[in-house]
Amino acid sequence: MLVMFCAGGVGLRASALPLREAARGSVLIGCSAGSSDIADPETAAMIVREFDCFTADNEFMPKFMVDDEGRYTWEIPDRLANFARDHGMPFYGHMLVWQHETRAWLFEDKDGKPLPREQALKNLRDYITTVVHHFRGRVKAWAVVNEALSDDGDTYLRDTPARRAIGDDFIARAFEYAHAADPTVPLYYNDYNIELPYKRAKTLRLLREVRAEGLRVDAVGIQGHWLIGGPAPEVISDAIREFHEAGFEVLITELDVDVLPRTTSGADLQSVDEGPNPYPNGLPDEVQQQLAQRYGEIFEAILRPPGVSMITFWGPHDGRSWLNDFPVRRRTNYPLLFDRELRPKPAHAVVSEILAKHRASALDR
Ligand code: XIL
Repeated sequence: MLVMFCAGGVGLRASALPLREAARGSVLIGCSAGSSDIADPETAAMIVREFDCFTADNEFMPKFMVDDEGRYTWEIPDRLANFARDHGMPFYGHMLVWQHETRAWLFEDKDGKPLPREQALKNLRDYITTVVHHFRGRVKAWAVVNEALSDDGDTYLRDTPARRAIGDDFIARAFEYAHAADPTVPLYYNDYNIELPYKRAKTLRLLREVRAEGLRVDAVGIQGHWLIGGPAPEVISDAIREFHEAGFEVLITELDVDVLPRTTSGADLQSVDEGPNPYPNGLPDEVQQQLAQRYGEIFEAILRPPGVSMITFWGPHDGRSWLNDFPVRRRTNYPLLFDRELRPKPAHAVVSEILAKHRASALDR
């Protein structure tokens, strides 16, 4: 059942519970944010009021942990992890290995050529060990590898610096080193579009190959960078069901819904300068309602099958969404549940209601 809203209104019904209260005990609801967000008292208060768990949106990436000379700087990452700890919020580590937002020296020489395998493995091991050790006890689970799968139908893995230097088993080695650095911490693989059948099959292959080596991999993170028009809710439910039946917990790690025109789906980090920007001064009511409905069907789809233990939005509010700069730079996007003034949008009430309903039925079972 969907909630109706009056035109132009903020749309939050008086009864809409903060998300974490609506969901309490059934599924963790989180958002990602950065050090500037937690330094802002209003944003920090909203995060703590609405969300159970927390992810660093940017400042946990290798580029922020270590510099070009191999020096680690913990100050900002520590601030984020400590904010989560101080507020009793589970903190998800995003992430240890990715081809973006990283340091070239990990896997390439000064001319951009792949390092010898042994050198690249040592760098991988040292990086993972240092970071996982540093955050032991403060990270609830680590995204060990991000976006290793190819978007191309027949190809299994992407061509990346880590893979060129080490080989396909850079993935297994990353899981091995993360587990060795902290045997207690759950580990997951994270990627976009993996709910789609062709990429879902590759994901299952990857997860099974890691497990077949006797290594720990607990969960799969479906990023959930979705569009107003797709994927269909059944595709989302089917993917969750299949991952769960294969023995993996499912996390929705980076949820948002792009309301602007797009020619491609997915989240491969490449942006262009030119593209339509139809709503620079606010989202028309009609699209606001569409977004609320779309969030409704997405949450119904996520919660229908068993398997999902956490749902995290990628960003605290529309003004801080990466979708203002992806796949076209400098647009005005509206993909989250809170607007630029931190007011809950109509989609917030819809999601809150669905979470409360799900919680009630979960408690009945
Ligand atoms: C984005 C961040 O939001 C940006 O701040 C950063 O500059 C680039 O990365 N998939 C991911 C996330 O796994 O790390 C990306 O986040 C969005 C796509």
